[in-house]
Amino acid sequence: MIICSCTVMTRDQLSATVRALLAEDPQMIVTPGRAFHRLGLRMQCARCATLVNEKIAEEVRRHRPDTPPPRP
Ligand code: FES
Repeated sequence: MIICSCTVMTRDQLSATVRALLAEDPQMIVTPGRAFHRLGLRMQCARCATLVNEKIAEEVRRHRPDTPPPRP
């Protein structure tokens, strides 16, 4: 599933990138910018930002179950 139409980044790419970043540093604060950079991409219109943040948070919670959910 494509979650960023500007860069054609998929959810699977994002999830794998977050896992790779956390494997390197389990306490890393994963941001959309860091994930895009790792993939060699650059956010353009930012319409995907909320979805990207949600997917990053999901993956981080999978990796660190004690992480509190994001604030509304
Ligand atoms: S939809 Fe992701 S940068 Fe435009």
